[in-house]
Amino acid sequence: METVVSGIRPTGNLHLGNYFGAVKNFLKMQENYLCYFFIADYHSLTTHPTPKDLHGNVKQILVEYLASGLDPEKSILYIQSDLPETTELYLLLNMNAYLGELERVTSFKDKVRTQPDNINAGLLTYPTLMAADVILHKAQKVPVGKDQEQNLEMIRTFARRFNRMYKEDFFPIPTAFNFGEQLIKVPGLDGSGKMGKSEGEGNAIFLNDDEKIIRKKVMRAVTDSGPVENHQEKPEAIQNLFTLMKIVSEKETIDEFELLYNTCKIRYGDLKNKLADDIIKFTSPIRDKIKELNSNEIYLRKVVENGAERARISAQKTMTEIREIIGFRKF
Ligand code: TRP
Repeated sequence: METVVSGIRPTGNLHLGNYFGAVKNFLKMQENYLCYFFIADYHSLTTHPTPKDLHGNVKQILVEYLASGLDPEKSILYIQSDLPETTELYLLLNMNAYLGELERVTSFKDKVRTQPDNINAGLLTYPTLMAADVILHKAQKVPVGKDQEQNLEMIRTFARRFNRMYKEDFFPIPTAFNFGEQLIKVPGLDGSGKMGKSEGEGNAIFLNDDEKIIRKKVMRAVTDSGPVENHQEKPEAIQNLFTLMKIVSEKETIDEFELLYNTCKIRYGDLKNKLADDIIKFTSPIRDKIKELNSNEIYLRKVVENGAERARISAQKTMTEIREIIGFRKF
């Protein structure tokens, strides 16, 4: 069975866009691959969370992935900092990572532009830490969105370089795992583009938003003054609401509102009310699970301890081999 590795940055709550993107991807992969999923808390230090927030951020994302269906029986789910082998491999990879290539990474260049006062070495070597995460388990596949493609290219470069320097074929050269077309793109509520938390308050619906908030956000979604001709093409904001409906509602509901739109009888208030109902219905079980898990510290500890234990098996094996290959010898 092929091995998959993916890191999850502990940055904020999951919204429906994440759920139908990254999370759905993970749920499919855990059925067919040996998956190592970890929460990238070392990586999160590149942006300096305060000590007060670090654990809470990790817990929140762990809880939300579990509530969304990530199954610690099917995949190996751990916290990056529970696997110190990661840092050893990171150090070793850094010895053969070059300033020029690291500086050329687009996300690094963006940081240089947007936060010139905090360009730390962790940001520069973000790709070597990622490479350590992945090749530590000799993964063949890494699920990547558009924004991580260049990082994956760096991982491939470091794996190839190691193979070339020391011994051919030690690391598999990981490739992108992409469900691509099959993934639903979830639109936001502001009338343009996809759902995202950086697009401003109210654009995204989070899995842990309560019913009142969901309804409020949906009712405030951007619309227009309504169709004036039968079968008129829908402007983006309206199409977005229909797309959201496609994701959470029954076919009959969609057909009904399509007909109303096409005959110029639609009332957006009704559509939004129904859409809010259906989003609430869809997210309720996840929200309940989030609540339950949040108060079940014992279970959470069991999950991450067991995950670290299983991850350590492959990590220690790889590190023993690597130390040997590089030339470290016991006295
Ligand atoms: N950089 C990834 C992100 O921003 C998170 C990540 C860290 C990761 N290490 C990884 C993803 C290894 C894939 C493989 O989302």
